Amino acid sequence: MKSDARYPSHIAIIMDGNGRWAKNRHMPRSLGHREGVKTIDRIADAVFSRGIGYLTLFAFSTENWGRPESEVSGLLGLFKKYLKKNIPILTRKNISLNVLGDVSVLDEETVALVSDAYEKTHGLGGGVLNICFNYGGRAEIVRAVNSLSGKTEITEQDISEVLYTGGMPDPDIIVRTGGEHRISNFLLYQSAYSEIYFVDTLWPDFSEAELDKIIADYSATDRRFGKISE
Ligand code: IPE
Ligand code: IPE
Ligand code: MG
Repeated sequence: MKSDARYPSHIAIIMDGNGRWAKNRHMPRSLGHREGVKTIDRIADAVFSRGIGYLTLFAFSTENWGRPESEVSGLLGLFKKYLKKNIPILTRKNISLNVLGDVSVLDEETVALVSDAYEKTHGLGGGVLNICFNYGGRAEIVRAVNSLSGKTEITEQDISEVLYTGGMPDPDIIVRTGGEHRISNFLLYQSAYSEIYFVDTLWPDFSEAELDKIIADYSATDRRFGKISE
């Protein structure tokens, strides 16, 4: 893994635009989501092959339950299929797979796959892939606060440690595909000093070349963290 301060250690992505990608082709939204999964495979390979240690992907938000039932069940099915297929592949590639979010409400088989992913891939060392599923930044903060209740003198460090991303660096870069300029409840605490890139490309079309452009731009950015340039 690269340790140059100008090179990102952690990239997080709001994978938006699957529905519009399908609509543009007069196809059902479900096909857009299926295509989006292929982009995950391509971009995860690209990120880890560039020596970036952490990739966090927003796959299903706490608000996405409000979509039509057929779309929700399609997304849950795709997630299960993704886990089944990728646990052995990621194990082989030495990538740790974590699911961030409240998975306790999902079906038994998915819950078992999430534990299996963690047990089989924990600490493998080749990179960390976080899939945010039934994840919301506010729900994550509420959960963190509850887990610290009773403790006095809570520090920023204490909160960081009890977030789903505990022990990981904050994202250096957050990318949102699909053209919207909003965070939609993603990594609210961790994004304090992230460089944010909004790109118009719909997620199924997001390419390695665009990823490289973002990394190059990031490397040329003066991150001041409230101080002044040297
Ligand atoms: C995928 O994009 C992200 C998910 C919430 C699963 P969308 O399904 O939001 O696609 P658009 O924004 O409607 O195009
Ligand atoms: C954000 O996309 C959530 C995910 C990518 C999983 P949405 O499509 O749900 O966000 P809004 O509704 O445009 O804010
Ligand atoms: Mg969307």
